[in-house]
Amino acid sequence: MKYTNALQGKSLICTQDWKKEELDLVLDLALAMKENRYDHHLKDCLKNRTFFMFFYNPSVRTRQSFEAAATELGGHAQFLEPKSMRLKTEKTAGETIEDAAKVMSRYAVGLGVRILEDKIPYYGAGEALIREYEQFSSIPVFSMAHDKYHPFQGLADIMGLKEHLQELKGKKVLMVWGHGGLARSWCSVQEHLLIASRFGMSVRLAYPRGYDLDSDVIEKTKKNCENNSQEFSITHDMDEAYKDVHVVYSRNWMSPEAYQDGEFHKPSEIEKAMKHKEWICDEEKMKLTSHALFIHPMPVDRGNEVTDGVASSSRSIIYDVAENRLHVQKAVMALTMGKY
Ligand code: CP
Repeated sequence: MKYTNALQGKSLICTQDWKKEELDLVLDLALAMKENRYDHHLKDCLKNRTFFMFFYNPSVRTRQSFEAAATELGGHAQFLEPKSMRLKTEKTAGETIEDAAKVMSRYAVGLGVRILEDKIPYYGAGEALIREYEQFSSIPVFSMAHDKYHPFQGLADIMGLKEHLQELKGKKVLMVWGHGGLARSWCSVQEHLLIASRFGMSVRLAYPRGYDLDSDVIEKTKKNCENNSQEFSITHDMDEAYKDVHVVYSRNWMSPEAYQDGEFHKPSEIEKAMKHKEWICDEEKMKLTSHALFIHPMPVDRGNEVTDGVASSSRSIIYDVAENRLHVQKAVMALTMGKY
């Protein structure tokens, strides 16, 4: 496979920002890298180069897979967190994002940022911060999950679904809310709606009343479905939702009331979510599907979002998708910042 420099220097904050052909190129390269993990001809394309990972929030998969990706491409990933910097915030004096971004661009070949949940005062603040880093950086800027999107998770989801279903066009994915005690961000769910509809899947969204997602994301998902002649629907009837779908994605997300008066109201979100205990993906509901795969970005809130039986069943592809984070990240890093 021949790679051009067309994606060099490109940031990735949401997959919807990239052309479908560009996403296809990433997925093709990710698969080739997965098949030839340590011997791919791009294995040294980040040799002697550093990728910065700036985490406002904790992570298992994202940090570990980006570090492994940099290592497997011959480079190094450096972990940064707010306490290791002196950045200006609404409450404290410090360095501006403009200055930090311009300086970091002199050291590294790429910068990833994660910011969500309790680290932002309102929905949209994480997106604004990442876009500000992008504006002032001369290196690619990646979202490693922010309040609105999680692009690398979306790519790993699609890679996993392609591996297990082959053809995605016309397949039905159910995105279903699950109760839970974590008050989860919207990022993985919203990214998945966009990328699944982009790749020709029909999308069914199910949740209890009061858990609407970002209307901008819904409009874009509808448009993607229309462009592919696929259906998009929203239902609040859980049993109806599972009928005949090929993929079930069960995940908790916060209500639109999660941020108020510049604060993240986590305890009240959890209290409210735990009143909907019937919203759990279980074996009985999976029987209504068309022998569906179960997908989840992890960490899984077992016993709340989904039963152990479903999460650990032979139809669950959660570990394959988690592994694919590594491969899609290697592919995007190689294409946007690698030398070859
Ligand atoms: N899916 C995901 O981003 O996992 P982490 O929060 O562990 O990075």
